[in-house]
Formats: sequence, C-alpha cells, structure tokens
Amino acid sequence: MKKIKEREKRWKYKIAVLSGKGGVGKTTVAVNLATALAKRGYSVGLLDADVHGPDISKMLGIENKNIMIEEKEIIPYFVDFGGKIPAIKVMTFGSLVEEEQPIVWRGPLITKAIWQLLRDVRWGDLDFFIVDFPPGTGDEILTIIQSINIDAAIVVTTPQNVALFDTRKAATMMKESGIPYIGIVENMSYLICPHCGKKIDIFGEGGGKRLAEEVGADFLGEIPIDLKAREMADKGISAILHEGGILADAIEGIAGAIVEQMKRVKKP
Ligand SMILES: Nc1ncnc2c1ncn2[C@@H]1O[C@H](COP(=O)(O)OP(=O)(O)O)[C@@H](O)[C@H]1O
Ligand SMILES: [Mg+2]
Repeated sequence: MKKIKEREKRWKYKIAVLSGKGGVGKTTVAVNLATALAKRGYSVGLLDADVHGPDISKMLGIENKNIMIEEKEIIPYFVDFGGKIPAIKVMTFGSLVEEEQPIVWRGPLITKAIWQLLRDVRWGDLDFFIVDFPPGTGDEILTIIQSINIDAAIVVTTPQNVALFDTRKAATMMKESGIPYIGIVENMSYLICPHCGKKIDIFGEGGGKRLAEEVGADFLGEIPIDLKAREMADKGISAILHEGGILADAIEGIAGAIVEQMKRVKKP
C-alpha cells in the first residue's frame, strides 16, 4: 500500500472509467480518451483492470506481446500507432494471466491483481492515469477506489433503461465514496442512417442527461454509433486517428471537457 501511495503521487489526474454493466463502451471510451489526451500532448498511462473482459490489448493491437520485467518492475507497453500520436503507456490485466487458463476471479483476487498492476508497473510521471475498471458495483471496485485517490469517475452508459438502472447504482456508489468529480458519458446515443441521413434513436433518447441531473453528476456528452470506429477498434487502431470521424469528434469534445474539469477540481 505504501508503494502504491508513492507511485500515485507521480500521477497528476487519476481517472476511473466505469459502467454499471458490460458492453456499453467502457473500453472504447477509455482507449479513445487516452489517445485523445496523448494527442493533446499529455503523458498518459492506461491500465486495463477489467478482469471480466480485458479488451484493451485487442483494441490497441498489443495482444500476444510478451511483457518485459526489469529490476522486478513490469515495463508497460508503449503504443504510438507508428508515431501518429505521442506514446501512451499501457498495461493490461490480460498480460498477467495465461489466456487458455480459465480462472474464477473472486473479489479479493481481483483486488490483489489490480494492486499489483498499480504497484509493480513502471508507470513513471503521468499527467493522466486512466483505469478501465471491471463493470458493476462489486466490493472489489470499492476497495480499489479507496486505495488510490481517484480524481474523477467517468461512468459510461447507453440510453437504454436497463443500462441506466445499473449506471445509477455505479454513479451513486462513486459519489458516496467521495470522488470529487463524476461525469456521465452516454454512448451509442443514436445512429445516423447512412442511406437517408436520418437520426435513429436505437436505445431511446436523453437518458444519460436525465440520469446526470438525477444523481447530481456532470453530463459530459453523447457518442453516436460509428461503424468506422468499430471497424478500427477490431483492427486494433484508436478511432481518434480518424480525423473528423463521428466518434473521434465526440470523444475529443469529452476529453476537452475533462481537462477543464480536472483543472477546476484539482488546482496546482
Ligand atoms: N459508439 C460506438 N460506435 C460503434 N461501435 C461501438 C461504439 N461503442 C462501442 N462500440 C463497440 O461495441 C463493442 C463493445 O464496446 P466496449 O467498449 O468493448 O464495451 P465495454 O468495455 O463496456 O464492455 C466493441 O466492439 C466496440 O468496438
Ligand atoms: Mg471493456
């Protein structure tokens, strides 16, 4: 614990990306937010702590790469998409476990493994440390939130009622644990029909905004469905590299808002 405290002093803004349930775009937001911040010149670390779906390595094209250990420290991957953005440091839960090995991850084990990733990885000095958390509101999440001083919780939801129900719980939990800033991001907000250009509200409308008002969180913005971004994610490329893309524009806006909020919440 002492070592984690020492480490985290070197990370200026610590951001947890959460969701009430899986499949809502938590990893998409974490990866593209990290890339957008790196593009703005910030030094960024990205930790995949989602044991239920450690997808960051797939979305960044670093799966199957061995980890390097130096002086008992794990060296993070440096991802820069062939020099297109300043490198982000990435470490994933998946790197610690054999893929073929099915492990039943219980709460205390998850917490321990995440502590190891915080403590034993050579993160160095960072402007932003972004953690892709496991979905839900389990005890292990609370334990982690309490062991590092998270500055902001970014809670991702879709406009659908079931997702909102779980998101409400997650946002409330973050609030009650005293995190200074809670932002809600609504993903898969709508689709612009490629044939007629009409907006289609696949999962309903305005849910994220209403929820933000209800729980007293900030509404950071909506991200439409973006077919190109999904294709890029499957190829291991960040959608931020698609200048002017629908998802890229939405996340660039959200990244800008987060930077402003962090400067406000945590004055130097
Ligand atoms: N706005 C979006 N437009 C298109 N595809 C998306 C969008 N958000 C997420 N996806 C895709 O949906 C799937 C689930 O997203 P993901 O970020 O992995 O969710 P989670 O981390 O919450 O489980 C991924 O294949 C991702 O590429
Ligand atoms: Mg995920």
